[in-house]
Amino acid sequence: MGAVQLPERFGRLGLEERRRLLEEQAIAEDWAAVSCGPELTALADIMVEAAVGSLPMPLGLAAGFLVDGRELAVPMAVEEPSVIAAASLAARLIRRGGGFTTWASEPVMRAQVFLEKVPPGGELRVAPREAELRERLDVLQASLRARGGGFCGLEVARLPETGLVRVDLLIDVRDAMGANILNTAAEHLSPRLEELTGGKVLMGILSNAARERRVGARFALPLELLRVAGSGAGGSGTGGAAAGQGAGEASIEAARRIVLASELAREDSSRAVTHNKGIMNGISSLALATMNDTRAIEAAAHAWAARDGQYRGLSKYTCDGQTLEGSLELPLAFAVVGGAVGFHPASRLALAILGHPDGQGLARIAAALGLAQNFAALLALVTGGVQRGHMKLHAARLAYQAGARGAEVRQIAERLAAGAQYTRDAAARVLAELRGRRA
Ligand code: MEV
Repeated sequence: MGAVQLPERFGRLGLEERRRLLEEQAIAEDWAAVSCGPELTALADIMVEAAVGSLPMPLGLAAGFLVDGRELAVPMAVEEPSVIAAASLAARLIRRGGGFTTWASEPVMRAQVFLEKVPPGGELRVAPREAELRERLDVLQASLRARGGGFCGLEVARLPETGLVRVDLLIDVRDAMGANILNTAAEHLSPRLEELTGGKVLMGILSNAARERRVGARFALPLELLRVAGSGAGGSGTGGAAAGQGAGEASIEAARRIVLASELAREDSSRAVTHNKGIMNGISSLALATMNDTRAIEAAAHAWAARDGQYRGLSKYTCDGQTLEGSLELPLAFAVVGGAVGFHPASRLALAILGHPDGQGLARIAAALGLAQNFAALLALVTGGVQRGHMKLHAARLAYQAGARGAEVRQIAERLAAGAQYTRDAAARVLAELRGRRA
């Protein structure tokens, strides 16, 4: 079958008509996968253009988090196996050492107006008018102001290559991601900035860099607790090298290797990308579960990772021989209101599971989750490797594809993993045996 062919005005058709057209052409048995019932489909239709359904991404809960003294199960929407299990494993371990401590700066973001053709010195006429610009924005953002947010400063620069003038309006967006607030502010002040500078506006838009809106998490784990989960610590990939070492030595060795792994990610960009991908496994999954803007969050994190000109790992680990300390700091524009957040029932559910945090609270949970994810990955990588756990989950998928359901999936996966047989044929054979024995 070729690719689906759609009429030119597909997006202008009614939802039912769009679905009918697609249903006729798409493979019938898979069409159900994006049909989440009439209410969610109608919601999709008002959220995006040319909607035909909703994607049922798996949603799981990473249990066992202790964040600033609060017990939490963190909702994660993710298609990748092992991610939620890894976050939970790390969270439970870190919880025994006292949990995560987190912090967040005020949620200040930048609206940017870029002006061309500004005569020499024109940019110098903006800063002296700050009070007037503030007043104009305060009128526009009265309700934001009432909630403790609003304009909090401006910066002006002439860009050396293009000669463009950039006016940054710093605005505290409170619990919103901020795109609407910031873009409206930029457009609102554009005519006045043209008058002041004598230039012409090229564009007005937020900056997703969110450098002022930073969040951090840290934990301190006594090494005797690391021993509990660090089976195989000190191993070279098989876990075998740990044999014969005292448990204390094994945990010290695991901690040393984690610290070295974090230094590696700071030194080597190609490793840093994978290291940070692991951190974003957690953060993006929470962003998706709460229907935050995953692209904005990812872009800001990666830009922050490259802030000194080289792309580096975002987390840091140190060890004094007694305690392993891990920390993570990055910009995180997490919202609890605006857009789909708090509006879509799936987002509302995720926020309710977390006890309705405010925007900064949600970002702090995200930082803890990212750090947990990173710690779990490093611990696995520098001890036994990640593939063992991964292959078990792969075996479960093979079992499912072969027709296994319910408890059969785990039974077959265990048999496949034990024999290192990772094929669909092997799964089908084991399933037939299992069912044959039961009959
Ligand atoms: C896999 O999704 C994430 C890891 O590759 C992260 C890492 O290597 O640090 C395991």
